Formats: sequence, C-alpha cells, structure tokens
Amino acid sequence: MTAKEVLIWPDPNLSKTSMPIEEVDESIRALASELIATMEYEGNSAGIAAPQIGIHKRIFIAHIPPSDNNGNGTNGPEAFINPEFILKEGDLHWEEGCLSIPGERGWVTRSSRVIMRYLDLNGEQQEKEAFDYLAGCFQHEADHLDGKLWIDYQSPLKRNLVRKKMLKLKKQNG
Ligand code: NI
Repeated sequence: MTAKEVLIWPDPNLSKTSMPIEEVDESIRALASELIATMEYEGNSAGIAAPQIGIHKRIFIAHIPPSDNNGNGTNGPEAFINPEFILKEGDLHWEEGCLSIPGERGWVTRSSRVIMRYLDLNGEQQEKEAFDYLAGCFQHEADHLDGKLWIDYQSPLKRNLVRKKMLKLKKQNG
C-alpha cells in the first residue's frame, strides 16, 4: 500500500464530520493499510485518522507500544472503527501534535481514563480500556472523525499564529 498525502490544516476537509462504516469489508481493510503506510511514511506519529487523507469514514489507526505506557498500548499499528467512548474519567493535561499541523504543539485537556467501544478489522465489536498516553491518543484521533483538531481548543491568538505558519508552509510546498 502506498502512502497518501496528509491534508494540512486549515484544509476544510479536516473540519468535516466523518460517516459511520456500515460494513467492514476488503475496501475498509485496504483503507486501514493505506493509513498505516501513510503514518509510517510520515515518521514519528502515534496515530492517523481517515479524514487526514480526505476520506470521511470513521476509522483511525493508533500505534503506541505497551512499553511506552505502563503496559497499556496497541497491538502494533491497530485500526479502530466507529469508535465510541462508553466511559471517560479524570483529567489528562498534555501537549499534542498532529500530522496535519506539522511542527506545532498545543496543550489540551483530555480524560485520563476511557473505555472505547469499536469494531476491529474483522467487523467484531470490541471494548478497550485506555489510560494516559493511549487515552489521549484515542480522544485526539476520535476528534478527527468529528472534524476537530487540537488547534480548535487553542486561543484565537494561537490559532491565528499557527494558521499563518501553515499557509506559508503550504505555499512553500506548492
Ligand atoms: Ni491528529
């Protein structure tokens, strides 16, 4: 599978709500492989969501080695389909980055422990408990499916500053 181009904020496609996946078939498994190839091509990233490559379907990939988060990680780069939080508790105040806002970071408050219900690539319903780094990653990626990025939680001043930098970057990249 080949890597796709990652959309850079403020691309309006990043702000659209994605549609639930009705059937987990070969096309969805191919999309998951494309997302993984794109994430790996882009280098150091814990996750990527389908709208970041312009596909408005509710699927994201997370990749957090368990050893990086007290044993609570993913099984390699793992796909999560139609995610839904059935529990959210505690506060996690941390700094996030995103492939769609390269080189920038911002502070966001997430829940520190979540239970997420989702479909796996076989179409089986699963539930996974996540805390700390993995919980934050799940919430960041699920936000993408609702058209939200970490930048949306920042002050107007920071948003404008980052918007200018990204527009300049897009111009340079042609
Ligand atoms: Ni992101």
